[in-house]
Amino acid sequence: MRAVDIIQKKRDGKELTREEISFLVQGYTRGEIPDYQLSAWAMAVYFQGMSARETGDLTLEMAESGDVVDLSPIAGIKVDKHSTGGVGDKTTIVLAPLVAAAGVPVAKMSGRGLGHTGGTIDKLEAISGFTVELSRKQFFRQVNEVGAAVIGQSGNITPADKKLYGLRDVTATVESIPLIASSVMSKKIAAGADAIVLDVKTGSGAFMKTLDDSIELAKAMVDIGSHVGRHTVAVISDMDQPLGYNIGNSLEIKEAIDTLRGQGPKDLEEVSLILASHMLVLGGKAGDEQEAREILEKLISSGAALEKLKDMVAAQNGNPEQIMNPDLLPSAARTVEVRTVQAGYVESIQAENIGVAAMLLGAGRETKESVIDLAVGIELRKKVGEAVESGDLLAVLHVNEVDPTRLGEAEKKVLEAYSITPQAVPAQPLIYALVT
Ligand code: URA
Repeated sequence: MRAVDIIQKKRDGKELTREEISFLVQGYTRGEIPDYQLSAWAMAVYFQGMSARETGDLTLEMAESGDVVDLSPIAGIKVDKHSTGGVGDKTTIVLAPLVAAAGVPVAKMSGRGLGHTGGTIDKLEAISGFTVELSRKQFFRQVNEVGAAVIGQSGNITPADKKLYGLRDVTATVESIPLIASSVMSKKIAAGADAIVLDVKTGSGAFMKTLDDSIELAKAMVDIGSHVGRHTVAVISDMDQPLGYNIGNSLEIKEAIDTLRGQGPKDLEEVSLILASHMLVLGGKAGDEQEAREILEKLISSGAALEKLKDMVAAQNGNPEQIMNPDLLPSAARTVEVRTVQAGYVESIQAENIGVAAMLLGAGRETKESVIDLAVGIELRKKVGEAVESGDLLAVLHVNEVDPTRLGEAEKKVLEAYSITPQAVPAQPLIYALVT
């Protein structure tokens, strides 16, 4: 077999066999096929697409390119959740204890900073002492005993995806639905889940800007799930503004705690309840979403969900007192107010600008080497649809040592993120679709 013939076949719009896909992926991972040939193939896929069968085969080849975690030492149906990423998305921190409190084991591997803001693992590190590194044995034991563990990705998971994603990033081939779908699903499959709930974000702050593209991506991922025997459902949720009010690591932990107390922002609560309901149904703990929702609401109102977060934090060496008293979490030295001079209604909040502003304050990484300041971030005070008067507070920046130029830039980004219109803005849907 020769890579050039496979590239040509894809270039001409033909379907590749499993053997051909395997030859490319495994050869590339071992360093036998050069970057330039994989780049040409990725561009051919970008233009020609891939059938559902090819996408499924590519996913399995990437999943099997490294370690595949065997979660069988953990009792029960393991349901994983994945978000395609958005600003202010702290749902994993709400979902892990909430779903575990309902009896679905959560054995979750999460990532560090995605784009401008910290990832789930960075956020959890705002809790003093919290360790995101557990051995496989400790990980399994904790999930069996406590019900939930959230750790960083360890071992050699999907090296083919890591290498190919790096290549796509510099060859303008990221935005290909079969390539994105196989990249996401290969990691979920290698992480060992029996079933998967996907939160596909749509809107200005999302990877997929239009609803049609988001649905197409969701369908591709759900199809892969059925191809590989992992029941997968996808919820399409709004990312035309950040989720919740808080952006920044410690601030997001505080908001997740508020949500587990039943006092969180409505949008975060709703997205969390919907995703958690699907996890309960897939995990066999509820017959349908309605029943699941009733169970989850009771776990929040009884305090059991918050208690579960406390137990998970304690098991991972974190300080459980910070969960019961979030004022003990890291907080910034000072705050800076961002006010509007316009009057009207908030039409949209460009999530990406808010993410960049948070990064400028130190909440996210500018380069791989950047060190995150866990205490800093942004607290939005107005969300889409709300009325504002000239001089009203739009957001509060939580600031430590920061270069005045960067602070000025962050303030400007936040102001620019807000679009204010004279007309009242109709309520936006939070959930657009469900793909099963
Ligand atoms: N996230 C991933 O994990 N892979 C992609 O290709 C795009 C986003």
